[in-house]
Amino acid sequence: MVMMKNIVLIGLPGSGKSTLGKLLADELNCTYYDMDCVIEDNLNQSIISIFKDKGEAYFREIEYNVADKITKHNQASVIATGGGVVTMQKTMVVLKENGYTIFLNRPLNKIYADIETKNRPLLRDNIFRLESLYNQRIHLYREYADYIIDNNGEINNCLDKLIEVSN
Ligand code: S3P
Repeated sequence: MVMMKNIVLIGLPGSGKSTLGKLLADELNCTYYDMDCVIEDNLNQSIISIFKDKGEAYFREIEYNVADKITKHNQASVIATGGGVVTMQKTMVVLKENGYTIFLNRPLNKIYADIETKNRPLLRDNIFRLESLYNQRIHLYREYADYIIDNNGEINNCLDKLIEVSN
């Protein structure tokens, strides 16, 4: 199958964007980008220390530049975004220009059960911040989503749904 457009996964931290993004890219035999990893590689610095040294506004600009660059490649890819990408309109514009956005909707209680917070600066001090991030962002995830897929059970069920909408 030849994908014409990127598949862009959006959703809260811990919603499964990276895990499912990798699996989906393998299934579709296409390139996989994890935007946070690209940022860390480009700056040779961890997300947590970028936030600490330069702040969130700086991080969002870098995030925009990375989105702009990876969406200009000729081949369609699967892109896992960071959870806050929806807070920057211009970043969403470039991601949506060449891509379908899929909101991975995972219930908060499932995220609480298994999230790793130590590398997530916006959650580190208080896991319950997730609930406030959810309240601030849910309308953005829904607004920007071309598709909404629930990730509330077996990972393979969700992967099957992703494959279906990617075809
Ligand atoms: C963020 C989520 C993180 C990362 C950064 C900011 C956010 O990505 O981009 O820490 O604002 O929700 P994950 O969603 O992969 O944790």
